[in-house]
Amino acid sequence: MNGAARCLFDPTGPAACTIVVLGATGDLARRKLFPALAGLFARGRLAEESRIMACGRRMMSDESFRSLLGGGNGATATPEFLRHISYHRLDFSEAETFSTMAARMRADGWPANRLFYLALPPASYEDAAKCLGNAGLGREDGNWSRIVIEKPFGHDLESARRLNRTLHAHFREEQIFRIDHYLAKETVQNILVFRFANAIFEPLWNRQYIDSVAILATETLGVGSRAAYYDSAGVLRDMFQNHLLQILALTAMEPPARFEAEQVQDEKIKVFRSLKPPGENDLATGQYGAGAIDGEDVAAYVDEPGVPPDSATPTFARLTAYIDNWRWRGVPFVMISGKRLRKKITRIVIGFRSVPHSMFRDILADDIPRNRLLINIYPGEGIGLSFQSKAPGGRFCLGEELMRFDFAGQGDGTDAYGRALIDCLNGERLLFWRQDGIEATWKYLEPALACCGRQAPPVIYPAGTYGPPPEHEYISSLVGEGER
Ligand code: BG6
Repeated sequence: MNGAARCLFDPTGPAACTIVVLGATGDLARRKLFPALAGLFARGRLAEESRIMACGRRMMSDESFRSLLGGGNGATATPEFLRHISYHRLDFSEAETFSTMAARMRADGWPANRLFYLALPPASYEDAAKCLGNAGLGREDGNWSRIVIEKPFGHDLESARRLNRTLHAHFREEQIFRIDHYLAKETVQNILVFRFANAIFEPLWNRQYIDSVAILATETLGVGSRAAYYDSAGVLRDMFQNHLLQILALTAMEPPARFEAEQVQDEKIKVFRSLKPPGENDLATGQYGAGAIDGEDVAAYVDEPGVPPDSATPTFARLTAYIDNWRWRGVPFVMISGKRLRKKITRIVIGFRSVPHSMFRDILADDIPRNRLLINIYPGEGIGLSFQSKAPGGRFCLGEELMRFDFAGQGDGTDAYGRALIDCLNGERLLFWRQDGIEATWKYLEPALACCGRQAPPVIYPAGTYGPPPEHEYISSLVGEGER
């Protein structure tokens, strides 16, 4: 980065707190949360007196949990970090396991500010909230108590409302943090800065100059060990209701008067509420068959452990959304996500309109390609703008160039989970969902989910491609451009 960085938030040093991770032996906690906490600790972003209570259903000593973590996370989980962690067995059917945890934290003089992170299967959120609440752990007596809920927030509109009612029976809205780690990704955070801290892009940011927007989140990973959750969720609930719609909102929203959580949320809600209900032709789905990723054979979705052999759950979807407002009417926002695709790429592609008249038409074999703005979230975090240029040399030829700004590898190494955790600890709500946003996105998605229920069986695409054939072509065109 050239020039001095201007910091928007500069929180004063971290306050000591107790972080309680429910589901500490699960995939999310071990792969994302503990490494993020270890990183924060190493960078001095967690106060030295802070403590971490790892909770799970298994009976385990502090020492065995620490060695589980130390082994899995290599150098990130240093002995100094591990010393801050204790383990406690919790069982939702044994309320006393929660009160003994509370008593243990009090007796050992752990910090009274508490963050409860639910790294649990979604079906357990309500039980966890009730048990915490009943053990008095939601009470704030001069200290704070916060609860972090992972997506998906419910399975549909109805269950999202029920979950919210249960949470509110034990916690106030200000205590509830509905996390979406995509919002904390470096480039996603950059969208608003790019759009609203520069004067030159916003005049072009509308239907007059933009022809289409694509939001891509392709993954090489399969369902792994998460079949129990994924098979009843599918890609629309897993990626669209949350991550992709958040990116859409940030790309499409109007500028709020101030960079302040409530105002930003208000503008996003307006986008969600302006989405036209999707029709059958706006949705294409598929499910991965056997294939190869990076030269390695991989199994079909239905042959993955825990997946029913006749499952019709989509692992790929392309959903074209239209925002019915003055700025965006008629501009397709094409959202795409799928598992076991050729490469992992998370990217927004803003496609501008073609030149209105080509003075080069008599000397060029093809149409002039349109300008595109690539907002790369992963890999190669950064922003690129494609434009036409005369290819150097004696002949008159046009060639496409990409002007790039890369920020991969810059910064202090704090990842998305680390950033989201810091914001929870600081009580900063910008990176979190508000309930009205959750309800609006479920409302929008319900016709698409119903449509999936009617479409059977799903189109099978070979693992290692970019989805069913027409989608493969389209996605390859979006992916190829950034690789130049
Ligand atoms: C999670 C989904 O929210 O996001 C996973 O549940 C998905 O299925 C993951 O793999 C992708 O996140 P990232 O940060 O790797 O793009």
